[in-house]
Amino acid sequence: MNAPADLAKVIATAPDKTMGYKAFTLGSFTFRRDEYFAHISWHTRDGRPLSHTMDIGNFLRALMRDCAWGFFYGGVNFDAVFGTLNHYKSVDMYAGAFNGTMKTAGVDLLENFPTEQIKATFEAMLDDWTNAGFDPFSAPQETGTPYGRKNGDNRPAITRARELATRCVGLKGDLNLRTDERGAPINRAFADVPQDQPELHPEPGFENEVHAFNLFAFLSRSQVTWNPSFTSVVKHSYMCPTTEEHILPILHANDRVEWFFQMCDEIHWDCADKNTGRPLARVIMKAGDMAAMPAYCRHQGYSPKRSMLLVWENGSPSLVYEIQKGESPEVPVQF
Ligand code: PHB
Ligand code: FE
Repeated sequence: MNAPADLAKVIATAPDKTMGYKAFTLGSFTFRRDEYFAHISWHTRDGRPLSHTMDIGNFLRALMRDCAWGFFYGGVNFDAVFGTLNHYKSVDMYAGAFNGTMKTAGVDLLENFPTEQIKATFEAMLDDWTNAGFDPFSAPQETGTPYGRKNGDNRPAITRARELATRCVGLKGDLNLRTDERGAPINRAFADVPQDQPELHPEPGFENEVHAFNLFAFLSRSQVTWNPSFTSVVKHSYMCPTTEEHILPILHANDRVEWFFQMCDEIHWDCADKNTGRPLARVIMKAGDMAAMPAYCRHQGYSPKRSMLLVWENGSPSLVYEIQKGESPEVPVQF
């Protein structure tokens, strides 16, 4: 969709004289950063001024995912207060709207924006607030500091394009297999992952149609964390493997059932009610475990060591509305 020019207009101040960062306005919300924090301000529904503070590293890691994933499925909570909810043509941005305590106190605010408008503001904020040497997609041990006064930028990291396969990974003509030749080294945590490829014995004439590849070897070379990639797409069934280290930078609020398969090591999940944040479950997933996250939950994962996770999504564009109408279940199985 081509948005009218004013929709993509970003409202920003000149860089602050001491810190060097711009401040941004979107709807009734203002955003400013200093050496350590992002500060978000708004007026409550009854007109009182309120603000929220986040560690700038956590804020930028969440902002990076929200931008890169086009606002994802359902809700992207940056923390227990601030976040976005995707309606696929427009996006809600809120403070406190999915926090039971703030909602009851009436101090929350939720506003809806055309996707183009919030996208332009979020991308400009990510660009201005990310310093040289800090990569919001990297594990904290593999990148520099997000803190301090304005110091350059890191455009290559924040505008990373997805590596698009020209064919199914593993088939002749796919130049995108991560290999040493392509400059993707094996991550330090996956030094023990075997790199051998499967043996293939297709019947003559089918050499170009039968394929297999070593997914563990492929993932061992991933340079980023908490960034699922589409490795197989069959109708609306998306297999999205990813490598995880430290904390998922968002609390994802589902609008559909989502499946996790822990392929190695372990991730500890906190699951909560997506509307209030009320804790629901702790899920400790070890290598080989599978879990399903119901459509009514939000979840955040903790990966003590870099691990491999397969996220299985149902990408059907009508599913969220079928669930809202009660035609599709919120849970994967009814006991
Ligand atoms: C999720 O919200 O389900 C999610 C997001 C990113 C990941 C893994 C899981 O890397
Ligand atoms: Fe999720």
